[in-house]
Amino acid sequence: PTPSLLILPGDGIGPEVMTEVRKVIDWFGAKRGLSFEVFEDLVGGAAYDAHGTPLTDETMAKAQGVDAVLLGAVGGPAYDTLDFAVKPERGLLRLRKEMDLFANLRPAQCFDALADFSSLKRDVVAGLDIMIVRELTSGIYFGEPRGIIDDNEGGRVGVNTQRYTTDEIRRVARAAFELAKKRGNRVCSMEKANVMESGILWREEVQWVHDNEYPEVELSHMYADAGAMQLVRAPKQFDVIVTDNLFGDLLSDAAAMLTGSLGMLPSASLGAPMENGRPKALYEPVHGSAPDIAGQGKANPSACILSFAMALRYSFDRGDEATRLERAVETVLAQGVRTADLMQAEGGSPASTSDMGDAVIAALEAS
Ligand code: NAI
Ligand code: MG
Repeated sequence: PTPSLLILPGDGIGPEVMTEVRKVIDWFGAKRGLSFEVFEDLVGGAAYDAHGTPLTDETMAKAQGVDAVLLGAVGGPAYDTLDFAVKPERGLLRLRKEMDLFANLRPAQCFDALADFSSLKRDVVAGLDIMIVRELTSGIYFGEPRGIIDDNEGGRVGVNTQRYTTDEIRRVARAAFELAKKRGNRVCSMEKANVMESGILWREEVQWVHDNEYPEVELSHMYADAGAMQLVRAPKQFDVIVTDNLFGDLLSDAAAMLTGSLGMLPSASLGAPMENGRPKALYEPVHGSAPDIAGQGKANPSACILSFAMALRYSFDRGDEATRLERAVETVLAQGVRTADLMQAEGGSPASTSDMGDAVIAALEAS
């Protein structure tokens, strides 16, 4: 059967960058014989404006039925005063929750042409290609008990609980080992087993999955604080990093700054395998709806285009075509094509969103 894709452009620059992804999808259909059944629907503020809810039940059902969902971005100042229950991000949270997307994949890849944009020295980051796998549906952001309670002496206590089950740890570990097999065959697991019970369990269960199911993949363990240091000191030592929700939140944001612009960063969130063996999957750029530049043709579509490349690799088993697309983006950067976010203060006139998309298509043509 033809693989299916649900496109949810969302708000702000979401629809602008998604227009460029559409060009890419059409190119793969026309030139590489890779056809998709593509559906498109509303999410976030756009869905609220049309239906009074940031994600309709129909859209949710559609998301459950396709092979992959590709989302632009949600939110914007027009929706900031809405009730919590209908805020744009609730649409995204509902997708993640109901699809049970427990593994958040955040690649940090530094294209040579952009190495000078990194917060670090060129030598440290040029050619960097690591993948952080963050557990997304459990841990301290969800654990019970939680709340602000009275301490019975006139004071208050803020409580959150870090809680991980064996199954929760094993399934995200499996996701990391599977990824490593398609990459550099190395996983580094990060926790704080020195001071946290959940860290001890985390280390034991990741080791268990390794020993029983993936003995051929190289596994190491690191305390997350030391990992943060190593990520900045010598990030190229890593291939796949797997860690919990809290540490992953921090480590993946830090890793993002190794690579330069928010406009370049893709992500994926994966869940359990469906009947066809493919994982439930949502792909989206890391950036938001960028209201400050929305509607001006300034947005960099690369993050969303690279998110589609991840879909090719992880949902559609076309790692070869994913690499072709990533190389095309790299070629365009090497040619000096730059959206405004990728330009130093005084450099020439920037490429527009559609210039960048067209350049990627031209590079694909030449590939
Ligand atoms: P943002 O990522 O939208 O923008 C931060 C800065 O980066 C802005 O100066 C923006 O112009 C720039 N930027 C972002 N993406 C870019 C791109 N592709 N090309 C060029 N420049 C780009 O984050 P911000 O400003 O904190 O949030 C804006 C809105 O987006 C808010 O409503 C927020 O809730 C929402 N948001 C949505 C996310 C999502 O849909 N997953 C994630 C983060 C924020
Ligand atoms: Mg974060």
